[in-house]
Amino acid sequence: MKLGGVWHRSISLWDDGRAVKVLDQRLLPWDVRWVRIETLDEACEAIAAMWVRGAPLIGMTAAWGLVLALRDDASDGAMEAAASRLAATRPTAVNLAWALARMLETLRSLAPADRAAAGAVRAQALCDEDAALSEAIGRHGLPLIEAALAGKAGTPGAAGPVNILTHCNAGWLATVDWGTALAPIYRAHDAGLPVHVWVDETRPRNQGALLTAFELAQHGVPHTVISDNAGGLLMQRGQVDLAITGADRVAANGDVCNKVGTYLKALAAADTGVPFHVALPYSTFDPACPTGAAIPIEERAASEQQLATGPVTGADGRDGPLATIRLTASPAANPAFDITPARLVAGYITERGSGSLEVLAHSPG
Ligand code: MRU
Repeated sequence: MKLGGVWHRSISLWDDGRAVKVLDQRLLPWDVRWVRIETLDEACEAIAAMWVRGAPLIGMTAAWGLVLALRDDASDGAMEAAASRLAATRPTAVNLAWALARMLETLRSLAPADRAAAGAVRAQALCDEDAALSEAIGRHGLPLIEAALAGKAGTPGAAGPVNILTHCNAGWLATVDWGTALAPIYRAHDAGLPVHVWVDETRPRNQGALLTAFELAQHGVPHTVISDNAGGLLMQRGQVDLAITGADRVAANGDVCNKVGTYLKALAAADTGVPFHVALPYSTFDPACPTGAAIPIEERAASEQQLATGPVTGADGRDGPLATIRLTASPAANPAFDITPARLVAGYITERGSGSLEVLAHSPG
């Protein structure tokens, strides 16, 4: 990921090896602040209070959080308790449980004295794998953008860049590097293809306006932030060639759980003939969930603090110091994710390729 022109990963160890290094994403785009996570408590807080966001990054933070816990107490009981605490921080993204399961697979059979060091090796390997998965997602998504461009070239009056709509934050801030939905876009941009991204603001926490727009700008990708209600109109007008989102969990039947509002975009895309794609690594696929109905949807407090803000009852902004305004004094609710039925998904972009789940299941990988 490019930040100030320098390549970084969204999560790594600090040089002293004693703490985990992440951006405090609550402060973006106003303040780029790397923070130290030194304890299990801080790792749990970083996930639950959303210093870190996005399914893969949550998983990697949990993996490192377990390592931090083992440095304090690597006994069986303490390890299992730490893993349970981390798993309970957020319910929807399956990558959290997935990463902890991978860690425990390695650690359970080891003597306590060996666990912290082995855990660090495993957590680093998971991070390296996540970056490679995102890179592969970018590679496999690129042909979709190339095809959209070729289609436009053959359509009179359809000049201009490939316009891609995305919802929430599925770029490098949500993963270790590259991202999921944004990985093909970065790849297309780097290959010199003309792309433009419609960025849904993604109320109530504005991950699109605050995070996606920030990272696209850092990479130099043309983009425009739109209100969450604008996408349907843009699709009707032919101003969206492709929609690509990430996912927090995909059920065995292909139903997609992603940030609330995704479903409405998929409906509009289906009505207007815009291909709606979902980009995900295998760690986001949950074969144990038969359909989207079995996926737990996180209900966050309507008045929860972002910094000073309640995301539904208020909004953060900046005109001078970061400040919060109240938007309503009424009762509010805050479901954080929704389910897009598989029938609305044109294809899944994964590290194995892109297409239907059936095709991907039989691809060599
Ligand atoms: O609640 P958040 O900010 O963690 O939600 C993030 C999303 O829903 C992303 O779109 C999703 O995790 C895709 S991950 C690349």
